[in-house]
Amino acid sequence: MAKTNQQQLDEIEARIIKDEVCIDLARQATQLVFGNGNPNASIVFVGEAPGKNEDLKGVPFVGAAGKFLDEMLTMINMKRTDVYITNIVKYRPPNNRDPLPEEKTAFLPYLQSQLDVIQPKIVATLGRHSMNCFLPDLQISAVHGQPKRYQGRVFLPLFHPAAALYNGNMKQIIIDDFVKIPTILEKI
Ligand code: URA
Repeated sequence: MAKTNQQQLDEIEARIIKDEVCIDLARQATQLVFGNGNPNASIVFVGEAPGKNEDLKGVPFVGAAGKFLDEMLTMINMKRTDVYITNIVKYRPPNNRDPLPEEKTAFLPYLQSQLDVIQPKIVATLGRHSMNCFLPDLQISAVHGQPKRYQGRVFLPLFHPAAALYNGNMKQIIIDDFVKIPTILEKI
């Protein structure tokens, strides 16, 4: 019998551990934060890396930025169980430092495999680190909220929801981009 998407995702998760991807990062983290949500989702959100709360719970976007992400999902009548959420780097970087280029490179094939299994209509990147993994030459300030077709996938570059927590002026811009999602999904 054909494997379900969830079974295939479980295999990718197991492979990250078996392959000892970023083993130094793994040793400093509480656990792997692989991804969570609907394995048949039409939209996958890709953040940067787990923070403290995510590291403790093993689930992406469960802290303050995640709360804002949940609020925006509600605005478009979606729940976490409708979408899939993951990060490029799957272990918490110490002291929440930015993920290193080599860490992003090491995890990228596993992220691509997750997307190959789920085959979402849209990959919504959260923040410039995530966007630049897939679309290396673009500036987020220039392309946010604009869907981009690249290498057989549709990407929607979004600002990271944490930006709204540091800069109140960003909040409405992030919401305005986010609420375009249903229309973009309809058009694909
Ligand atoms: N920020 C991210 O990029 N990912 C998380 O999972 C949490 C915060």
